[in-house]
Amino acid sequence: METCDVVVIGAGAAGLYCAGLLGQQGRQVVVLDHARRIGEKIRISGGGRCNFTNLNGADPARYLCTDPRFVRYALKEHPPERFIARVRHAGIGFHEKHLGQLFCNDSSQQIIDMLLADCRRGGVQIRHPVTVTGMQRLVVRESQEPEESRLADRPSATGAPPVPGIRALQDTDAGQAPRFEIRTTAGVLRARSLVIATGGLSIPAIGASDFAWQLATEWGLQTIAPRPGLVPLTMTSSAWQPFAALSGVALPVDVSVTVSPPGRAKTRKPQSVRFGEDLLFTHRGLSGPASLQISSYWRAGQPLWLNLLPGIERAGEWLVDLKHGRLAASPLSEGKRGDGQPHRQQLGTILSTLLPGRLARAWLAGAATLSGTQWPPQLAAALQGLREDMRLTDLPDARLRELGQALNAWPLVPAGTEGYRKAEVTVGGLATAELDPTTMMVRRIPGCYWIGEAVDVTGWLGGYNFQWAWASAWVAARAL
Ligand code: FDA
Repeated sequence: METCDVVVIGAGAAGLYCAGLLGQQGRQVVVLDHARRIGEKIRISGGGRCNFTNLNGADPARYLCTDPRFVRYALKEHPPERFIARVRHAGIGFHEKHLGQLFCNDSSQQIIDMLLADCRRGGVQIRHPVTVTGMQRLVVRESQEPEESRLADRPSATGAPPVPGIRALQDTDAGQAPRFEIRTTAGVLRARSLVIATGGLSIPAIGASDFAWQLATEWGLQTIAPRPGLVPLTMTSSAWQPFAALSGVALPVDVSVTVSPPGRAKTRKPQSVRFGEDLLFTHRGLSGPASLQISSYWRAGQPLWLNLLPGIERAGEWLVDLKHGRLAASPLSEGKRGDGQPHRQQLGTILSTLLPGRLARAWLAGAATLSGTQWPPQLAAALQGLREDMRLTDLPDARLRELGQALNAWPLVPAGTEGYRKAEVTVGGLATAELDPTTMMVRRIPGCYWIGEAVDVTGWLGGYNFQWAWASAWVAARAL
């Protein structure tokens, strides 16, 4: 039977980085992956240029986690600068695109090649496609002779049948004897340490699986139920028709949602999470960075608050001032005084100077009655019957104030998301209460480490998810 120091399951971002570091520390490492092509998420990331980290990636506030303190240690020990230094050393050119996001100048493949070169340097064996058919924890006697024992199957957290043959054993520790046995379609391996780096559920077509959830359930570990994150949101198709025609229209917005932070009910105060980013209308709903970011926080049935005029804090007052000639009409002459004459321009014309024209017209015609919008009754009444050809001077000040209020806070309730097929990440994973944040080792299973997206840590859009993959892998490798 083959024995090695560490078996890493999952040859993605976290698994390859961890294996390369371990190999270079002199560990005998075998990486197993069931996919024909490894590192696929790295390859397709960032539109083929891999947004490999973010200059703000050490800020714990940019990660969702049931225990927000959990990520602090790894991000402090392995801040973005550490990975940036590795990328520089490999001679990979990169640039900052937007909001601290770092992208390769040429291709994501350069990051994969760098990780594979580190693995080669460390003598790491990468085996794929290999299916793990069973795993056991070994009970080690004083003689250090491993012996098997089994527990009954448990149902999987995700509802899927358990991974065949995976059994948890009572743990004891004895010197350097192997603690895990991994059966695969390419033979049986025994290892002292095991690293679970099988990622999340998004994009099953390139190898994503619920392996980590199944294994955690099998081994009696707590998980946070998975849901798609960084994913386009969908609206009820019949209701969305007037806006579906806007597919491709993009604009900067502020989007927010109210979240209940985890913790005891008494100490939970709902908080508003807000992103100022571009929103993209699609034929099924909303996409673009604003929608992707908020989707990770959004829960079914909740409204999103869309501010279509993020540059005009109190759009209602702005419209009233405009009507009375107290402001110049063009938003380009922001804050400039008007000529004091009543403003007779049409609503459609005014809104088209602030929003894409097609959106301004569709919104005036359809937002009042769009099902999936939770208008307060007063705003719903104010929006009823508005037409693009109405003049500012035709509308009472109170109604203009309500119109502005509605443009500043459109309460839209998505019907759902595009699911794992389109999600960039999975929110949820192994509960961080199971892990020591300074090692990423499962507290109850000595020698077993859990890293990357398979842990209940999800980053914002913009390089934060790779940053977590590198940081958690680095902490585990250093501890091993
Ligand atoms: P990752 O998914 O990278 O690797 C998991 C590995 O485990 C895979 O190789 C898989 O085949 C293997 N595996 C799964 N089940 C297995 C099983 N049962 N047996 C054996 N092997 C198994 N993030 C970011 O920071 N910047 C970006 O630009 C992007 N862009 C982006 C685009 C798209 C389209 C997607 C889908 C995702 C992104 N991401 C991203 C997210 C990022 O790709 C992701 O968070 C990391 O790859 C997670 O790294 P892991 O190593 O944890 O999982």
